[in-house]
Parts: sequence; structure tokens; C-alpha cells
Amino acid sequence: MARRAIVAANWKMNGDLTLVNTMVTGLTNVELQDNVSVVICPSTPYLSSLVTKVKAEQLNTAICIGAQNVSEHESGAYTGEISTKMLRDLSVEFAIIGHSERRSYYKETSTQVAHKVNAALNAGLTPILCIGESEAERATEQTETVLASQLQPVIDEVGIEKFIDVVIAYEPVWAIGTGKTASSEMAQETHQFIRQFLAQANENVAAKVPLLYGGSVNASNCEELFAQADIDGGLIGGASLQVEQFKIICSAAKGK
Ligand code: PGA
Repeated sequence: MARRAIVAANWKMNGDLTLVNTMVTGLTNVELQDNVSVVICPSTPYLSSLVTKVKAEQLNTAICIGAQNVSEHESGAYTGEISTKMLRDLSVEFAIIGHSERRSYYKETSTQVAHKVNAALNAGLTPILCIGESEAERATEQTETVLASQLQPVIDEVGIEKFIDVVIAYEPVWAIGTGKTASSEMAQETHQFIRQFLAQANENVAAKVPLLYGGSVNASNCEELFAQADIDGGLIGGASLQVEQFKIICSAAKGK
């Protein structure tokens, strides 16, 4: 069974043209193991420069570009929104969808997230679907219920077969940007739950979906996390803004 590993950089509302340039230059000699993709997700204004620079430097084709969000609508009067087609026009291949910051600050619901995943898949973009529980939810043993309630609307809308083209990022909200990483055992246990949940709908698809861990992943803890049976890489925030650290994380990932 070949399951691709993915390391995705979520720059959030950080970075600038200098980072675009230093990241691409840094990635010219990154060492990647078998069956690994790297996805850089800058803020929208830098997507175009990033695409141009990646092409100019003829980076390894395993290095791809992603957006941090996308509209569920095809086109129309949605001021400030960006459509799947616009991203495809720029050669963007991935889109982070349903990040916990979008769910909490911009009130994105799991239904809206499902519409976005559907729109992305229809346009040939690979969604990086983010799910995760809050600290209070973990403390009250609701983690599995919460994750199921975030996954089920997407399965209902797009159908489990389409998950073959979906990447899932499990990010416990309490671990994002806090320096508190889930232990590798805790992360593995939760990833195993997610894979089993998908397997109830389709075992074959579940075995192939890359499950990324996110939340304070750095150059020191990535190796242990990525060694877990159901962890297929990571969604990296803070550490993805530091080129050398990010390269170490990319090199630690390995397809399973
Ligand atoms: P972090 O962010 O690595 O800074 O914790 C991860 C994320 O929010 O995707």
C-alpha cells in the first residue's frame, strides 16, 4: 500500500516577498524521501510570485503550492472571496479548508467546510481538510465525537469515494501556536480513530488518505510524530516561516 506523505506550510497572515524568495531558494536543495509532497501555502497576494519563482528555479515537482482558503461559490458577488477557478488559473494545486482559525474567527461551519471541499474537488484542487478538538472538548472526552461531527458532513456531501483525493489535517486546537504538541502516542491514537472512522464508510479509501498532524510541529519533534503508523506528515505553522527548520521537517517525512 502506497500512501503519500505531505508536509504543508501554513504561513497564515505572515511572510512577505522576501520569505517567498528565501523559501524557494532554500528548497532548491531540500532532500526528500520517497513519496513525499511539500505544499507551500502563503497568503493569497503571494501565490502568483511563488508560482513564478518555483517555475524559474525549476524546483522538484514534489513541491507544490496551496491556498489557505477558498470560496464555496463558483463566481459572483462575494466581495473579498477567491474562487477555485482563480486558484487553478494560478497553477495552485491544494487548498487548506476549515482551519480552526477560520472556524472560530470567521464562523465557518462544518456544512460550509463541506461545500468548500466539494467546490475544491470539482475544480481539481486537493483539499487539506482541517479538523480538531478544543482543550475543553479533549478534557471532557469529546474528541472523537467532535472529529466525527466535523468529518461526517463532508462525507455526506462529497461521498466517501472522493476522499481518495482529500488530505486530512488533524490539528488539536490547543496545540496550535502554543508550543504544546500532542504526544506522539496521543496523536497516533487520534489518527487511528480518524482512519477507522473513514474505514467504516470505505476501508480501501481510508487506507489511502494522508492524515497530517498539525500543532506546534518543529524540527525537534517531527521525526517522532512522523514515525507513527497513521501520521503521514504535518501541517506546519510557525516553524514553516523558518526556512532551515522547515527543510528539516520536510526531510523527516516519508511515504508509508
Ligand atoms: P503551528 O500552526 O505549527 O504554529 O502550531 C499549525 C497550524 O495552525 O496549521
